Amino acid sequence: MRKLTIAIDGPAGSGKSSVAQRVAQILGYLYLDSGAMYRALELKALQNDGLALSSDAELEDLAASTQIELKPTPPQLVSEGVKNKVLLDGVDVTQAIRTSEVAQAASQLATIAKVRELLVAHQQRAGAGGGIVMEGRDIGTVVFPNAELKIFLEATPGTRAERRWKEHQQKGEHLTLDQVVEEVHERDKRDRERRVSPLVHAKDAVLVDNTAMDVEETARLIVMLARERESELAKTGGREG
Ligand code: CDP
Ligand code: CDP
Repeated sequence: MRKLTIAIDGPAGSGKSSVAQRVAQILGYLYLDSGAMYRALELKALQNDGLALSSDAELEDLAASTQIELKPTPPQLVSEGVKNKVLLDGVDVTQAIRTSEVAQAASQLATIAKVRELLVAHQQRAGAGGGIVMEGRDIGTVVFPNAELKIFLEATPGTRAERRWKEHQQKGEHLTLDQVVEEVHERDKRDRERRVSPLVHAKDAVLVDNTAMDVEETARLIVMLARERESELAKTGGREG
């Protein structure tokens, strides 16, 4: 069977990372978390104090001179909670990028067109061979507009914030639920309203609302859709229509 490119987009806390990883594991595909690139670059900007507040041009230069490497998790190692290993100029920042501060600042960095161009090119190279589940905000619209299967993952804002809040609790970060609701709301608004590559539901993406579903059920639904796509493509010899 031909291996597909599967694009999963959606707002914060909709379950993209957990579900995409599980789908990749079941199908034996690579998993790639595009948001980790925005987070890693922003971490560097925050570390170079001052740069966090610097001009777009300076952030563009920073993007051009930074090496971000995502080690796609091989299928046999993919399990819930195992993220892509993220190397920032050779240093492992896999855990350091998972803070609420980095998430917020990353969504500001993600509004800069030139920064996006550089990261999108990187993502396209990483997924060029197919057999990949990539998740983010613009995967089905910009990174892989020809992906054979596109999913727009949703859950209610309250559910998404609660999921994120639980993760912070487990890591011992004592944010209140209200703080997380506010953070997720603000970031979603910015992601949906930005001029370049906003978070939108692509016309040809299947809407999956997993408010009342767990990770396993959601992943199984997407795997079923992927199997359908595989057999449609096998029948038409890969031609659309
Ligand atoms: O990547 P994204 O921000 O879209 O979400 P995630 O990091 O995959 O999921 C956030 C949290 O929600 C994780 O702890 C997941 O295990 C959990 N989750 C859930 O409980 N039920 C789902 N259907 C999807 C995710
Ligand atoms: O895991 P969560 O959904 O909370 O966020 P993420 O996927 O790690 O992405 C962090 C931020 O990077 C998002 O809020 C977006 O602003 C940006 N991003 C983007 O613009 N395009 C992508 N393909 C992925 C992330």
